[in-house]
Order: sequence, then C-alpha cells, then structure tokens
Amino acid sequence: MIILGIETSCDETAASLVEDGTATLSNVVASSVEMHSRTGGIIPENAAREQIKAMIPVIEQAMDDTKLRAQDIDAIAVTVGPGLIGSLLVGVETARTLSALWTKPIIPVNHLLAHIFANYLERDKNELPSFPALSLVVSGGHTDLVHMNSVPQNVHNFVRLIGSTRDDAAGECFDKTARILGLGYPGGPAIAKCAKKYLNKKDNNEQSKELNLFPRPMIDSDDFDFSFSGLKTSVLNYVKETQKHDNDKLAAEVQEAIVDVLVEKSIRAIRKYKPKSFMLSGGVSANERLVEKFKKRIQAEKLEVKFFYPEARLATDNAAAIASAAYFVGKHVDWIAVTANPGIRVADRL
Ligand code: KG4
Ligand code: ZN
Repeated sequence: MIILGIETSCDETAASLVEDGTATLSNVVASSVEMHSRTGGIIPENAAREQIKAMIPVIEQAMDDTKLRAQDIDAIAVTVGPGLIGSLLVGVETARTLSALWTKPIIPVNHLLAHIFANYLERDKNELPSFPALSLVVSGGHTDLVHMNSVPQNVHNFVRLIGSTRDDAAGECFDKTARILGLGYPGGPAIAKCAKKYLNKKDNNEQSKELNLFPRPMIDSDDFDFSFSGLKTSVLNYVKETQKHDNDKLAAEVQEAIVDVLVEKSIRAIRKYKPKSFMLSGGVSANERLVEKFKKRIQAEKLEVKFFYPEARLATDNAAAIASAAYFVGKHVDWIAVTANPGIRVADRL
C-alpha cells in the first residue's frame, strides 16, 4: 500500500511516499527556517505564506523522486493538528483537493502520533516495536509521555497520555534559552552544537559532575508531568547577573538540565509500566546527548526494554512519519469530513 503523506503543521512543507508504513520511497522537506531565523522565531502568517508557495512543488518533487504517478497511490494522509491553523490549512486543503481530483481516500493524522511512528520508518517488519510500549514525544510545542497497550489498530483504544508539560515544551525551552544566549533559531540544534564543543573537551566522568548550574524542575515529583518555564527564567537571570559567560558551557548546562529531567521521568515510567519498547520521538529526539543518556541509563539499570529512536532527519517534522502513522492507525474518511484541528492532543489522560 502506497500512501502520500503531507505535513504542514509548523514551518515545514513536506511530502513523502511511503510503502506499507515503513519504506520511505521519497521524503521531501522544504523549510522556511532561514526566514524565521531572521525574525528570531516563527511568525505564523509568514510561515503559511511560504507554505502556499512550496506545497505543490514539494508534492511534485516527492512524486518525481519515485517515478510513481497518481494512479499508483492508494491514499493521501495529512496532518490535521496540532499546529498553526494557517499552516495546517495549506496541507489540509491541498489533500482534500487531491483526494477529490484523484478519487483517493484521505486519512487525517495527528501530528504527535506521527512523531511516534517515525520509529517505524526504515525498519524491517520483524524489527518493529512490540507492545505494551511507552513513548516520550518531545517537540517544539509538546512534551508528552504516552502509554500504548497493544499493537496499534485503532488510535482511540491504544494510546493514553500519562504525563505532559504544565507550561513550556522541552523544544521550546531549547529555543527560548538559545535566544537568551544569542545562539539563533532553531535553538535545539544551536545549543546541541555549542554543548558538544564544550563536552568534547571533557572526559565522561567530568562531564556530568560539573553540569549542575541550573535546576531540574519537577524531577522528584511523583507524577509524570514536566515544567520547563522556570528553567528558562533561571537561565535569563543567570545571564543578566553575570558579566562574562562561556556560551558553550552554558549551552551544555541547559542541555544537561533538560535531558536529565526527560530521562529521569521516562526511566521512572519505564520502571512503573514495564513496557517492552520505549520510543523516543519528536524533534528533540535528534539530540545526541538525550539518546546517549537514555542508552546509558537503560543499560546501567538493566531494564528489559527495547529502546527505539528515529534517525535525526526523521525525528524532526517530515511527511514520511505522517504516511506511516496513517498506514498503522489511520482511518479513511471522505474528503468532505476532513478539517484542520489546531488544538488536538496526542491522547486522553490515563
Ligand atoms: O518535532 P519538531 O520538528 O516540530 C514540532 O512539532 O514542534 O520539533 C522541533 C523542536 C524545536 O524546538 C527544535 O529546537 C528541537 O525540536 N530540536 C532539537 C534538536 N533538533 C531539533 N532540540 C535539541 N537538540 C537537537 N539536536
Ligand atoms: Zn513535530
């Protein structure tokens, strides 16, 4: 089954053809990140205007890369939310038009679930995650710990939210602290790069011992919720109060504080729910330090869980993950019934 995925929830315009939910035949992502780096963040109106221009060429490119034609496609999958309303509408209206024009079924997809399914891409059928499973979805707008009790068939009875951020998302904390430090947008990759420079100068033992400048919010709370806005304020206060600072060290400090909380809370959830698989997902899972610390903790605590994380290019927003989620948990609907839904959550609370 070949699905055309379309993704426009934030500033990317993406299209991809995926076979049977796992094999990426083409994956095109156009980003207006340079424009947003000039304004220090995304201005939604500007993002949507760029997406209108990019949408059709991106779909054409995704088709051309495979030499497949409209008649070879079995369904069209599109992100309906969460995201920016103007941006979502570009993808949704395009998908509806193509669905009507090509008489293909349309599959609405929750962007956060799609992040989880990035873990299914480029993997053999016998290597896919087994259930029950937990996933930490860490993106620019969300930080969600979710539990999945069985092999995905119907979204509504297999995913439950067990914890979430009470204020800023982890990615947002990377982006906002990077701005405070003058490192540019998007902040996650900028912080990771500076932090790497700093960490490369230290040996392993030294690395963690020294990095304790900033608080680890809610790390000891007996729930699975997160909070990152206080950390952002601590960084702001520190920068205001100190005259000279080493930005590479501060980047490493910020990264370590975020990573420590994400790892600690997730490991505690793994101990409680004893899942067979743990899937890291969302743009922040492109962070090497986060992946490395998860691997170390799982090994050190001899946890019997298989750890999955997506390739970095599939961790951040892309349309292959949309097509994959559509294949495994999507439901065909009539194009008339598809609408953008900017505020939807990954799932209901457990
Ligand atoms: O999932 P995503 O591409 O878009 C949303 O759905 O929000 O996530 C984007 C977020 C941004 O906050 C970005 O700074 C962060 O992911 N990010 C990273 C890294 N690469 C992207 N954060 C930390 N380290 C990275 N290497
Ligand atoms: Zn995303």
